[in-house]
Amino acid sequence: MTPGIRPLIAGNWKMHGLSADGLALARAVAAGAPGAAELLVCPPATLVAALAAALARFVILGHSERRGAYRETDPTVRAKAEAAIAAGLTPIVCVGEPEDDRLLGRAEEVVADQLAGSLPDGFAAAGGVVAYEPVWAIGTGRTPTEADIAAMHAMIRARLEARFGAAGGGLRILYGGSVKPGNAAAILAIPHVDGALVGGASLVAADFLGIAAAAG
Ligand code: PGA
Repeated sequence: MTPGIRPLIAGNWKMHGLSADGLALARAVAAGAPGAAELLVCPPATLVAALAAALARFVILGHSERRGAYRETDPTVRAKAEAAIAAGLTPIVCVGEPEDDRLLGRAEEVVADQLAGSLPDGFAAAGGVVAYEPVWAIGTGRTPTEADIAAMHAMIRARLEARFGAAGGGLRILYGGSVKPGNAAAILAIPHVDGALVGGASLVAADFLGIAAAAG
């Protein structure tokens, strides 16, 4: 965590759920929400209309599944982030290296390039959020070592401060990729891990709330 930054635990539902399931899950999360962390659920576009009246105004952009399956490039993500900010939404911009780049020792270089290309100039003023999600950790049950997460988040913090000044020091940097109730406390204790972006475990209210509880 970063002193003075309130952790954000965001549930990335992807395309899961029909409206009745989604409403039930959102209500269960809202009813069980503990104190310290800010909780967010990110439903699929098909459920936004049903849930929007009650929930926060964030949007996940540049997820690796979209960068991969839809060939979204850094300039596309940047343009979407600009559009989101103009529409009054807070962007959560995802970055993260494929496994090959990690194995070749290029992970930090790849993520630094994604940051430079994907974040618009208005990002810090809009309170934007960065989510570091190593591609190979998503939905696999594998996570980087705590030292590797710490090094990456420190690099991201340094880049945000270099680009946005003091405002960059106050932005939230989430970790995502196989976050579960059992590993959340250790991950959230790493410096500059200011919350989590949670996929699979966000679909079960008790698991999502367990992760939120680990945030303090
Ligand atoms: P996971 O997904 O928690 O299921 O690994 C994370 C994500 O894709 O945001």
